Amino acid sequence: MQAEASLTAKGAAKHRAVHQLLEGGRILSDPLAVAMLGEDPDAIVREAEEDPDRRTMRLFIAARSRFAEDRLADAVGRDVRQLVLLGAGLDTFGLRNPHRDKGLSVYEVDHPATQAWKRERIAAAAPAGLPALNFVAVDFEKQSFLDELAKAGFDRHAASFFIWLGVTPYLTREAIVATLAAIARVAAEVVFDYGEPLEAFSGARRAAMEAFQARVAALGEPLISRFWPAEMARLLRETGFARFDDFGPHEMAVYLGAPAPPPAGTPGGHVVHARSGG
Ligand SMILES: C[S@@+](CC[C@H](N)C(=O)[O-])C[C@H]1O[C@@H](n2cnc3c(N)ncnc32)[C@H](O)[C@@H]1O
Repeated sequence: MQAEASLTAKGAAKHRAVHQLLEGGRILSDPLAVAMLGEDPDAIVREAEEDPDRRTMRLFIAARSRFAEDRLADAVGRDVRQLVLLGAGLDTFGLRNPHRDKGLSVYEVDHPATQAWKRERIAAAAPAGLPALNFVAVDFEKQSFLDELAKAGFDRHAASFFIWLGVTPYLTREAIVATLAAIARVAAEVVFDYGEPLEAFSGARRAAMEAFQARVAALGEPLISRFWPAEMARLLRETGFARFDDFGPHEMAVYLGAPAPPPAGTPGGHVVHARSGG
């Protein structure tokens, strides 16, 4: 198991914080993002402005959360009352939970070291009146998260929603398949993201992807899984998801109402919304 808190979780949290400061949370409004990160706002803005290439990743990270939170709101409208954040990192959704009055329970699954660090950050960022989050420590490569969730009170016979963002690139294919199959076994839907193989990119975009890949490998969290969209569609059908939508850069830009969406088929990060029959 990972001995240290995830540095890529910190990276994603920094992108969400900078998105509030530089873009006013235009895609994802997250009033707790800056406090949860706990870094000097001026310094993180300066750092982001010195490296404009980070903007694409920042907007993708904001978009995937916004999309997931929108799909969750639909599911709550269909009486779903359990949310599981798989590989939650410093995601603040559980603290913001706008569906608390409707009884939405939030379970956060992550490595123990990252969860311990998150508890410290929560205590520092929002010391009073913290909402109850159910923390479940799991290594996706080694354990069945459904068993661990059940111990924390998760009802596998009741409808549930899983948000699994920024995690698949760091897992083996076996762990990804096992996780999807486990979600499909319960009456669940899931929003997750994945990246396309490096060969899908060219020019400056390819160079930026390679630089990012080298950066996170140096942090000890190498990117090991990437998928072509057709391969992901096959994998979803094989693991038990009859219905799914895959939003690439074009579809996501249209979804967000961007004035000039990139052409259909443009490579980049993909966000999938999939539903199993239970
Ligand atoms: C890039 S962070 C994303 C965090 C969060 N979902 C977000 O969007 O900010 C990756 C997360 O996956 C978790 N993770 C990676 N491999 C894992 C594993 N084998 N078992 C459990 N969690 C894992 C890390 O602890 C970290 O929280």
